[in-house]
Amino acid sequence: MSRSLVIAIDGPAASGKGTLARRLAAHYGLKHLDTGLTYRAVAALLLEEGGLGENGARAVAAAERLDLGAMDRDRLAAHEIGEAASRIAVIPELRRALVARQRDFAASPPGAVLDGRDIGTVVFPDAPAKLFVTASPEERARRRTDELVGRGQAVDFDAVLADLKRRDARDMERADSPLRPADDAHLIDTSAMTIEAAFRAAVAIVDRAVSAENRASPS
Ligand code: DC
Repeated sequence: MSRSLVIAIDGPAASGKGTLARRLAAHYGLKHLDTGLTYRAVAALLLEEGGLGENGARAVAAAERLDLGAMDRDRLAAHEIGEAASRIAVIPELRRALVARQRDFAASPPGAVLDGRDIGTVVFPDAPAKLFVTASPEERARRRTDELVGRGQAVDFDAVLADLKRRDARDMERADSPLRPADDAHLIDTSAMTIEAAFRAAVAIVDRAVSAENRASPS
């Protein structure tokens, strides 16, 4: 593979996009960046420094000094950090700073799989392969509840469901880079799919997209 390949994966919280992104990266020998972690890491830094605040400049400074290689997934998985990330994700200057970091990450060969909310629409609108991964809110809430119970946390399904719906609304209704499928994204609804079936469907889509791209512009 001589060029950098970018696979763009978007979708709402707990849709299965992260698992799919990791498996696709391993399958194609690409790097992987969970861009949600970049928003979470900035939120965590701001909270540590005394609060989210209204000031975009602090968030931008945090984004610029973020070490993308040292984001601690377990620590950043906390519910409050996800909430805070979704709140600061509406700040346009912060989005611009993080998008620049995300593009840099993917630019060097062999390329990368990025998952998030705006990868196919804003970060890599020209990516040859775009997936939009969804599942019903109830199924996503069931998965999230199982995951939290597995970690020993006491959780209530209805509260998790209400929370996911609130987060979806905030991510879809913000003015800058809202969550939505790119016009040329392929939809995968994982509500009634195993991880294995979703992975096979994704590989078929990516293989087709990459060979169409190679036919259009052979290297
Ligand atoms: O995928 P996640 O739950 O870790 O993302 C946390 C929040 O970060 C999400 O609610 C919105 C924001 N986010 C974003 O605005 N754009 C992205 N590309 C990724 C995440």
